[in-house]
Order: sequence, then C-alpha cells, then structure tokens
Amino acid sequence: MIHATRAALFAALLTLPAALLAQYNAYPPSKVETANTTLLVDIDHRPATSLDGEWHAIVDPYATGLYDFHHVIKRNGYFMNAKPKPGGGPVEYDFSISPTLKVPGDWNTQRPDLFYYEGPIWYQKDFQHTSKPNTRTFIHFGAANYRSHVWVNTKSVCEHEGGFTPFDCDVTGVLHDGNNFVIVAVDNTRIPDGVPTLQTDWWNYGGLTRDVSLVDVPAQFIDDYDLHLVRTPDESSTNRTIEGYVHVEGAAQGATVSVSIPELHATARATVGTGDRALIKLPVKSLSLWSPENPKLYKVELAVSSESSEDTLEDDMGFRTIEARGTEILLNGQPVFLRGVSIHAEAPMRTGRAYSQQDVDTLLGWCKELGCNFARLAHYPHDQRMTRAADRLGIMIWSEIPDYWALQFDNPVVLEKSKQQLGEMIRRDRDKASIILWSVANETPVYEARTKYLTTMANTARQLDPTRLITAALLVRTEKTAAGSNKIVDDPLGNALDVLGTNEYIGWYEQGPAGADTTTWDIRYQKPLIMSEWGGAARAGRHGAADQRWTEEYQAEIYKHQIPMLNKIPQLRGTTPWVLMDFRSPMRTLPGTQDNFNRKGLISDQGEKKQAFFILQKAYKDKTLGKAE
Ligand code: GCU
Repeated sequence: MIHATRAALFAALLTLPAALLAQYNAYPPSKVETANTTLLVDIDHRPATSLDGEWHAIVDPYATGLYDFHHVIKRNGYFMNAKPKPGGGPVEYDFSISPTLKVPGDWNTQRPDLFYYEGPIWYQKDFQHTSKPNTRTFIHFGAANYRSHVWVNTKSVCEHEGGFTPFDCDVTGVLHDGNNFVIVAVDNTRIPDGVPTLQTDWWNYGGLTRDVSLVDVPAQFIDDYDLHLVRTPDESSTNRTIEGYVHVEGAAQGATVSVSIPELHATARATVGTGDRALIKLPVKSLSLWSPENPKLYKVELAVSSESSEDTLEDDMGFRTIEARGTEILLNGQPVFLRGVSIHAEAPMRTGRAYSQQDVDTLLGWCKELGCNFARLAHYPHDQRMTRAADRLGIMIWSEIPDYWALQFDNPVVLEKSKQQLGEMIRRDRDKASIILWSVANETPVYEARTKYLTTMANTARQLDPTRLITAALLVRTEKTAAGSNKIVDDPLGNALDVLGTNEYIGWYEQGPAGADTTTWDIRYQKPLIMSEWGGAARAGRHGAADQRWTEEYQAEIYKHQIPMLNKIPQLRGTTPWVLMDFRSPMRTLPGTQDNFNRKGLISDQGEKKQAFFILQKAYKDKTLGKAE
C-alpha cells in the first residue's frame, strides 16, 4: 500500500514546478539557516583538541539522511549514527564502514565521483572527551561550505549558513566522558537566496574545508575583543594609546580584565561592566608601528579573573592606524600606495580549496616575490592562516564577503545572511593589523534596491569596526569618445565607501590591449581609488604573437598598456590585478586552454610564472606603477 501511495506521490512529484521540486531534494530554502552558533575569537591561540583527519562520509543527494519520503524531518535520521543489527529494522546506512574524506579539505578534489557534486554529504567522527568542572566545551569549525547542521551524540547542537566564515557550537550539555561522536551534514547546493547566489566564477568546493577542533574554556571566558591604536595628530609619535574592549562570556559580578604587552611593560585593568564588556585604555611608550616595512607583532596577554575562575588568552598583534584623507590612503599618517594582486583561495599545485600553511606560504611567498605590499583576498574570507601570515609578512589586506554579482538585493532574509557573514569576518580578523579594508561587494548591478542593501552593509561594517576603511569592487560605465573611450566612475554606492574599488578588463573583455592607451578615466568622487581587477588570460607556456589571445605575449601586452594608463589616474592609490594564480571555475570550459580553470593568473596553478608576472614585478620593484600622493 505504502509503496503504491509513494509511487503515486513520486508520479505527482514529477509534474511539480521546478522551484517546488527543488525543495524535495535539498534543505527547505529561504530561512536563515544559522542557529545556536557562537564565535570565539583568537581560537588559534587556545589549547584545543583537533578533530582534523579522516571522517567517515555518506554522499546523500536526496537528503535521505534527514527527510522521510514526505519531506518531513526524520526522527531516526543519519544523525542517530545507527548500525544495522541482526533482527533489527532496515538500517540502510553505516558510517563505520563508509568511505572517508579528509578534513580539512573540499570533497571535490578528493574523489573523482565528487568533482562536480553539489548536495548534502554526511560527515561522522568519533572522539574521546573528559569533562572538567566549571568548563564549557565548544566544537569550532574554521569554515564549512555552504550550509551545515551539526549533531553531537544524536543531539542537534547548531546550524550554520555561509561557506567561508568560522562558527562554534556549545556542546557542553551533550558530551559524555569517554566515547562521543559528531555528525555534520554539509550541503553545498547553490541557492537563489544564498550569499553567494547561483553563479560564481569559482568552483563550488564543498565540505569541511577548514580545521575542526574541540575547545574547552572556563565558564567565565573571553570570547571577543577589540584592541586598536588611537589616531593622533602626530602619527609618528611612539608614545601612544591602545583602546578597545574585552567581552567576557559568563562574567561574574565584579570580574576584572587585564590586558598586557610585556615587551612594552604596559598593563591596563578594568572591571567588566555594561554588556559584559571591560573598556580598555592602555598607554604605551616606544611603540613600534606595524607596516609592510616593519611588520612588528607584539605578544598581547589578556585575562579575566574573579573569585570563582580565571581565563587567559594570548595573541600576536601589530598596531597601526589606517585612514583616508581626500584621495590619499594614510598608513600611520603617511600616504601609501597599495602594490597588490588579487588572490583566490585555490591551493597551488594540488588545487582545491586552500587552507594549509603550505598553501598560504606559497601564495603569499609569490606576492612578496612580485614586490607586493598588499593583496585582495577574493571574494570571500580566506583561512585565518592567510591573515596571520599577512600580519607576519607585512602584506596589507583587502578582505571581502561574497556579496557577489546578482544577489537577491530586495530580499531581507538575504541581507541578514550578508550581515551575519560580515559580522563573522570582522569578528575573526579584527585583531589583524594587516587588514586595512573590509569589502562589502563585487561587481553588483546598479539599481536602487542593491544600492540600499550595500549602503546598509557599508554602514554596518563601519559600526562594527570604525578603525578600518570600507570598500567594494564596482563596475564602471564606458562611453565611446572620439579618441577612444571614457570610463566613468559614478556608481551611487561610492557615496557609502571610504575607498573605491573598480574593475576593468580593457584588452580582454573589451577592446585590445592598446585600448588602454586611448582610455580616459572620469571619477566622480574625491576618494582614493584601487583598480581592484584588470588583466587577461594566458595558458602558461603558450607562446605566439602579441595579438594572439591565450598566449603569454598577449597577456603581457595587456599589462604593458595598462600600467601607463593606470599612472594617468590622479587618485589611483592601489592596484590588485586579476589574478595571482589560475583558479578552478565551472564557467571556464575551453578544452586544451581553460579546462575548468580561469587562466588570468600571473602564475599557473602548477606554479609556472607567465611573462606578465615579470612585467608587474618590475613595475612594483621599480615603483613605476602608482603614486602614494
Ligand atoms: C570578474 C569577477 C571575477 C572573475 C573575473 C573574470 O571581474 O569579479 O570573479 O573571475 O571577472 O572574469 O575573470
């Protein structure tokens, strides 16, 4: 009977409109999917139990592990971690004998059958735990693309949406002493009301793409802080003040916080007050300001104590100021030019989502080799290893959330998702001196709802962090002129930004390389401008005439003509050509040339430097591209 009804149901299903059908093979859409998550900052300085390694995995395209055939959430879903038992009911899954996937890592480059896979995959891992008195335990995810639902010992503990920002789940109440298990359903199905939405020029790598760990903290602990250098009229002075707050979760009445920088013999103490924050004012003498030339990091010690408990935390932080003044960008009060490059989190050589120290050292090593003091991390927050390394190497950073192309800008649910990702990005990396710019969007269509949405985002970023500059990568209008073309920067979103980012592809998507020679720029804002994307593609090792597309010579020709054009833009204060390294994209299918890679890299995914790499390197090393003032 049941089967007959189900057969009838499936028959009925096949006639349902696509949108409704979509519901039946993935999570229900259009609901903010982040619940019960927290975010402990500076997690990489806390003692933790790593859960990285091999996890059992079940590929579940129909979400059978969660929904019954009427699409109702099951009570006995895969989160129960059941096993077939002799004489028992038909259990049709068993993690313990299922293949494994490495964590961290995307699933697409781990198994050929998952290369194009988009949908839910269930991860399962056993772990040991011993509870301690007065202690809370969190499971921390560096990132999981795109939506994830977490169960521990069959109990649902949290859900998260967004593939590039960290989150934690409090598991204190569901842990046992001894054997435990965690199950995470990760679904990288692209959804219209997602951030990003359906189309991206990067591969939709799915999975537990960054570290997973268990973190124990005292019942009263530090979960967030802001410590920044106060701007002063005399920015060169080394006798300065560091200000901010320390937020204490579970703060006891009268708990006191201390912030110390031993190397500077400086300590500030404050009582936890309103909003469980202790306000910090720390005068320091002989402070060495962070800059690309002097990426000085100080050991910072934070502590909260009360009669009942104490929590301590360390961080490695640099102190600098960044501001915009007219059309200049000032680092520690001095005009600066941002010699940069755009980077995707694609792993060099092995390809796939980058996460490891080796991935980071290779990518930023190439940046240094190129002569960069700046990098645009596109189009989403990269692994924290990247921003830590930028702090150490002295590379200033543009960090961005994937408000990319045509989001549903008129959908308030989507705005909440963007705000959530923005909040997580800023919270994780607020302590990084290298980060000077928060970007709230890339190449979004100019219309009223979009400008309203992104203006809200820019203002939200400014509220969350008034110490950094807010930007976005804008499209520019082109007018034909007698001489050639005129690029007009008058996107209304420019009003809400501190620094303008503009993308152009003269020589690739429009005109030939020499088109740059006859292109003028009409920028309708007295603000600093970063040319956030420019360039063209080449297959490494392919050579030919300078007017032959896909050759290194053609790409080099674009760079040769771009540099003089860029130098004619009076308020140009930075450049981040597209892109440091070739990266995988489903939009790039030309066989034998692209093979699912965007080939605009200055370096191939296998590390081959193209001619354009050396042209840009020379311009950066000789400082013949760009002026700070
Ligand atoms: C766009 C976009 C990038 C894309 C690039 C390209 O500008 O921002 O994400 O990869 O162009 O077309 O190569």
